Amino acid sequence: MIAVLQPDLSLLFFAQPHQDQRHAVEVASRVAPHLAEAALTHDVGKTASRLGAVQRACATIWGWARLPAKGRWRLYLDHGNIGASMLKEAHASDLAIAFAAHHPGPTPPGIDARAWQELSAADDA
Ligand SMILES: [Fe+2]
Repeated sequence: MIAVLQPDLSLLFFAQPHQDQRHAVEVASRVAPHLAEAALTHDVGKTASRLGAVQRACATIWGWARLPAKGRWRLYLDHGNIGASMLKEAHASDLAIAFAAHHPGPTPPGIDARAWQELSAADDA
């Protein structure tokens, strides 16, 4: 399945912690093959913060409370935009870049709604 990724995108995939790689593969296994790139790379921005599971959970709650965050917590809360930038630099598809930046959320303009719904459902499963 990882063979669907171009070399630069494979590097981003394998730079993720094992639990994020496992999650990405699970998401990819639930979508059509042409959506695998977006599924496998949608959380690559989380690598920037280098937070463990407990700190991620705390940062997420912090973010839900809309409290100001700094440092690695800020990086974690911004992982969508960070991942989108990483994917853009690695020449990912527009869908993969958009899904990294805007999930979970409504389909952005210019993105195929069916593909977006399939990816979103697979990520939430
Ligand atoms: Fe996810």
